[in-house]
Amino acid sequence: MSSEGRLEIPTPDGESQSNRKKTFVTFYFEGEAVSGALGEPVAMSLWAAGHRTLGWNEETGRPRSLFCGIGHCFECRMEIDGKRDQRSCLYPVREGLDVRRQSKPGALAIVDGMTRL
Ligand code: FES
Repeated sequence: MSSEGRLEIPTPDGESQSNRKKTFVTFYFEGEAVSGALGEPVAMSLWAAGHRTLGWNEETGRPRSLFCGIGHCFECRMEIDGKRDQRSCLYPVREGLDVRRQSKPGALAIVDGMTRL
């Protein structure tokens, strides 16, 4: 237990989490500079910076965001450094990453070569 009464979970090297120093780096979300802790998931850094919409459903245009947070649901898919469909809840932050939503709100969906609303 910490002095503030929080449960302390030791890191694998035995150091307490609260003693571990975080290194903050700058990456880019839709061209805007965002600060994130080195190695933490991109989606968590975006949430901490107030960005909750990580994309839009390709068929309905409704907002998508974190759902499972552990890499199972793919709701957090983003384009990271030019690679589409990266799970931002798993992708570690590092300096200079280029992170983009890969869909537009209310965009037409292309399904089997047909467009529909
Ligand atoms: S939030 Fe479910 S895979 Fe990322």
